[in-house]
Amino acid sequence: MPSLREPSHWSMPTLETASGCFETMRVYEGQIFRLHAHLGRLYASATYLNLHMPLTPRQLGQRLNAVLARSALQEAVVRVAMIPNAQRIAHPSIVVQPVSMPTAQMYRRGIHVSVVPTRRFPIGQIDPQAKFSARLGSVQAVMEAQLRGADEALFLDGLGGYVTESTASNLGMIKDGVFLAPPCWLGLLAGITWQVLWEAARQLRLPTQEVPLTRHDLYNGDEVFLTSTLKEILAVTQIDGRVIGTGKPGPQTQRLHRAFRAIVRRELHGHH
Ligand SMILES: Cc1ncc(COP(=O)(O)O)c(C=O)c1O
Repeated sequence: MPSLREPSHWSMPTLETASGCFETMRVYEGQIFRLHAHLGRLYASATYLNLHMPLTPRQLGQRLNAVLARSALQEAVVRVAMIPNAQRIAHPSIVVQPVSMPTAQMYRRGIHVSVVPTRRFPIGQIDPQAKFSARLGSVQAVMEAQLRGADEALFLDGLGGYVTESTASNLGMIKDGVFLAPPCWLGLLAGITWQVLWEAARQLRLPTQEVPLTRHDLYNGDEVFLTSTLKEILAVTQIDGRVIGTGKPGPQTQRLHRAFRAIVRRELHGHH
């Protein structure tokens, strides 16, 4: 007996979408920032998920740029989701939208976050280094944070008690003049913004260290911040009701943000 579908053309698209991977990229002055790094991470995610990618990274990059050019947007977000079919062959679904950054007030005041009960997958289950599309854990985590009166969530790692990342951002802190961030082996995404900020820190002669961080470490940080393609770097001024540092975005966070913007400008004008 043939299978029945209702509606007949529908093949559970949300389920298919959820088993793929995706990237979110930022467009500054009409150019996709760090396109190659994003493509590299997308194909690494696809390898992990055993998706077959008919397009080469170069072809997909051309496709993204073509859609971006059609949009004529200068400040934008480009999203690509790889949607696998039943044979695990993944085709791109591309969306270009005007950019929506956090508000000026969020940058001025910083945001409040909460460490939530929902955990990221342990690396042996689904490695969070893959940017997989299933977002239920993140939706749940943001909801838990909001129920606690916070803006965003922080995850603990799958097994221990180290803080790993936020739902769509990496985590960093400043303590005694050192930029500290948790290592990927704890189970978190290797953020491209985080990588750029690591480079910025080197230029600023700000020492860096990858080290597992506990809630105790974060509560006692001089400055804490989230980093992502859409946020760049955004100060965290309260965690679980504890005020961080002075309660205002700190000087190193602001220096790193300026240095990040300078790197973006240099790359757009081809001086890298
Ligand atoms: C879970 C998670 N961590 C971190 C990030 C930040 O990565 P990037 O700086 O490459 O945007 C993202 C989002 O892009 C994410 O979804």
